[in-house]
Amino acid sequence: MAEPRLRHLLVTGGAGFIGSAFVRQRLAQDAEINITVLDKLTYAGSEENLAEVARDPRLRFIRGDICDPATVEPLTREVDAIVNFAAESHVDRSLLDAGAFVQTDVYGTYVLLEAARHSRHQRFLQVSTDEVYGHVKDGRRREEDPLDPRSPYSSTKAGAEMLVRAYHISHGLPTLITRGSNTYGPYQFPEKIIPLFITNALQQVPLPIYGDGSAVRDYLYVDDHVNAIARVLWKGQPGTAYNVGGGTEVSGVKVADSVLQACGRPGSLKHFVKDRPGHDYRYALDIRRIRSMGWEPRVNFQDGMRLTVDWYRQNDAWWRKRKSADFWNYYQQNYRGLPANAIPD
Ligand code: NAD
Ligand code: DAU
Repeated sequence: MAEPRLRHLLVTGGAGFIGSAFVRQRLAQDAEINITVLDKLTYAGSEENLAEVARDPRLRFIRGDICDPATVEPLTREVDAIVNFAAESHVDRSLLDAGAFVQTDVYGTYVLLEAARHSRHQRFLQVSTDEVYGHVKDGRRREEDPLDPRSPYSSTKAGAEMLVRAYHISHGLPTLITRGSNTYGPYQFPEKIIPLFITNALQQVPLPIYGDGSAVRDYLYVDDHVNAIARVLWKGQPGTAYNVGGGTEVSGVKVADSVLQACGRPGSLKHFVKDRPGHDYRYALDIRRIRSMGWEPRVNFQDGMRLTVDWYRQNDAWWRKRKSADFWNYYQQNYRGLPANAIPD
């Protein structure tokens, strides 16, 4: 199959953690690409995440909501592919209130698909997650395995995937899906385990480990993840899903120990808290399909952690701004029963 000639991408959610890494990487690696970023700038998104490329004339930023057809439709007519990163992305927040997840992750994806149906796009890539498979007791999940989401977040991502698949089958849209594993690296909002633990360690407040800390995740460095998305966008077979995993299995306790060691902080900062309700204890992906397209994760967990800790050390103002009063309000709601010293002065 001939590779699509993609000159102009609409990147939704491109001011978030992974979306902004994709935009930075594409602009650096593809001299002919133009990118329009559409992002609502929720608490998780910021134009600061695109500051390194803000002056690039090939980049245009538009603040707007993927749920609004009047915003989406004219933009989709100008581009030849859509890459949808926009989502509410944090499992713990979906347990507190799932409304925004249903709205953005499901309805927003529908609005984008409808707009794509009325334009002649070469590709529609939906950025999904390994969480759609649910807890994986043993073995590794393959792309044909049934979806079994168990949290409000993963259910909305699975719902979006079903719509994407339906628009491929019913309307012939050239869709692609990537199912990435737990991603970490620079610019990640400090609510997810790795940036939360790094910034808590730097602030010398406890690292809240759920349950006994034995749940494992397959951590994937962000540059590897966005490389895989680009590979699938240009070389993937329409109508197909691709697992993207780092191949590691790291427990919560191991994350805490690695962070404390890298930050030179004592083990006494580890604090075991009430488990996440419905906690998926393990995700594990079979990545043979994307490997056969020549993609491999390049950054191992040790190197990725070093790069990430260095970035947070050097970008103190970036993360401190995000750990605002709103953040600590969410934190107190989510982590009930933490000691008084859990929140910095
Ligand atoms: P993020 O929360 O950092 O970024 C999400 C971005 O989407 C933000 O910039 C936000 O402002 C924007 N957004 C939210 N609602 C919007 C709306 N209605 N309209 C327009 N923009 C909106 O998330 P992330 O970690 O960068 O994840 C990006 C995508 O990758 C998500 O779809 C997520 O499900 C998926 N994913 C994430 C991981 C991970 O470990 N972080 C792993 C696999 C897949
Ligand atoms: O697997 C891909 C998914 O990874 C993405 O689709 C999601 O967008 C992303 O948020 C992430 O979901 P997780 O729930 O796996 O990530 P989180 O960082 O919230 O949690 C990772 C593990 O760490 C999980 O076992 C729960 C544990 N944990 C998490 C937090 C925030 C803790 O022990 N303490 C914490 O404070």
